[in-house]
Amino acid sequence: MPHILMRERAWPSTIPAEPRYPGLARALAQSPAQVIMEVAESGLRGRGGAGFPTGRKWGFVRPDPERPPYLLCNADESEPGTFKDHWLLEHDPHLVLEGILIAAHAIQARRAFLYMRGEYASLLSIIRQALEEARRAGLVGEDILGLGRSVDITVVLGAGAYICGEETGLMESLEGKRAYPRVRPPFPAVRGFAGQPTVVNNVETLANLPWILEHGAAAYREIGTVDSPGTKLVSLSGGIAHPGVYEVTMGYPLRDLLEREGGGMLPGRRLKAVVPGGSSVPVLTADEAATVTIDFESMQSAGTLLGSGGVIVFDDSASMPHLLQAMSRFYADESCGECTPCREGTGRMAQIVDRIVAGAGQPDDLDRLLRLAGNIEGRTICGLGDAAVQPVRSMVTKFRGEFESRLRPDAAPTPNWQRHGHGPRTARYGALAEEAARSEPVGGRPTYRQ
Ligand SMILES: Cc1cc2nc3c(=O)[nH]c(=O)nc-3n(C[C@H](O)[C@H](O)[C@H](O)COP(=O)(O)O)c2cc1C
Ligand code: SF4
Repeated sequence: MPHILMRERAWPSTIPAEPRYPGLARALAQSPAQVIMEVAESGLRGRGGAGFPTGRKWGFVRPDPERPPYLLCNADESEPGTFKDHWLLEHDPHLVLEGILIAAHAIQARRAFLYMRGEYASLLSIIRQALEEARRAGLVGEDILGLGRSVDITVVLGAGAYICGEETGLMESLEGKRAYPRVRPPFPAVRGFAGQPTVVNNVETLANLPWILEHGAAAYREIGTVDSPGTKLVSLSGGIAHPGVYEVTMGYPLRDLLEREGGGMLPGRRLKAVVPGGSSVPVLTADEAATVTIDFESMQSAGTLLGSGGVIVFDDSASMPHLLQAMSRFYADESCGECTPCREGTGRMAQIVDRIVAGAGQPDDLDRLLRLAGNIEGRTICGLGDAAVQPVRSMVTKFRGEFESRLRPDAAPTPNWQRHGHGPRTARYGALAEEAARSEPVGGRPTYRQ
């Protein structure tokens, strides 16, 4: 399996004291328009969740010396079940910095920001050291490699809120304001950070650029599928033997990821469900999970999304109502409150799931949940509203019997530990993560270590 992101130099974790950025050197030898063309031809699609073509996004920025654009690297990574950007920043910060510089050259930005979620503060020293090394090697700042281009990178730590990962919320936060998402249009490429044209790209998207520039669009196209070229970093977690971050070729079967890289289910357990792209995408049943491949088109035809690539595995001991309770509470907590359908709707959905779990649900609660979901979807300022709807609709529809059994008069009340999510299962997954952190790389591929 070809590796683009987990390169030799990334494992074991050694940060080169004298970095070389061959992809950047090739980019700077070309005009910005040529770099945009190369990336467009590579077919690279954004890894932040929506899968938007990167070259096309850059093409929306119109060069205007009066209004210099900004490049923002989105390292907020708050999507539940997602921890691959953390891996990249920790193990290969130079790859990310090189990607930022290539993107900045393409859109003719002189300033770039790396916006990182507040909880990733422990990565600051690693990134600052890498930045300093790059600066000393003449790769960041004025007159990069003596080729006349200047780009500076500033690292900024957010306060830690899910909505700061939404691109316009991120810009507000970067401007020192509360991260209320903006109504579009105008789109960021026209009016973004500080009122200037802006491109926001995910860490993993940017980390693909050095390889593309070094090896060319045609070579990149040979990896993965027609509509999803390249590889994907997957954060694998939940009831699986070897949780971790894995790089797989797009088109790789999800079942193989679980069985080979993931080492299969825990002893005596069967697969019940999989969330394939972070908690904001529809859940797959075990049968559905057996047929999909890891790429944008296969996930979409199975009625779900590749999203952030956060694969969360649930075995037959998992209670879907309890899982939905945790997710619904998350979205209700993280809703910024700016627009009514999301502010009121996410709170209401969480209340209803709470009472179903507590054994106090009303007979029409499941239909009420689905109706509420329909009233939120597509009617909000940003994507958080749509995201909150996906677990509700998919879990209630696909595991309806389990929810209905909690609506019966004889449904057992839920013990406190389950209501608050601090149960034996949580403890066991925690122990598994610790075990994985101690383990050696699986099958030659690095596992996530924290
Ligand atoms: C509620 C919400 C949270 C988001 N969080 C992130 C995030 O943590 N990281 C990220 O890259 N994109 C996140 N996104 C997507 C960004 O808005 C944006 O589409 C992405 O950063 C673009 O990068 P890409 O084109 O490289 O994929 C989020 C979107 C929404 C609606
Ligand atoms: S959808 Fe939710 S998070 Fe997004 S702007 Fe509206 S209230 Fe805020």
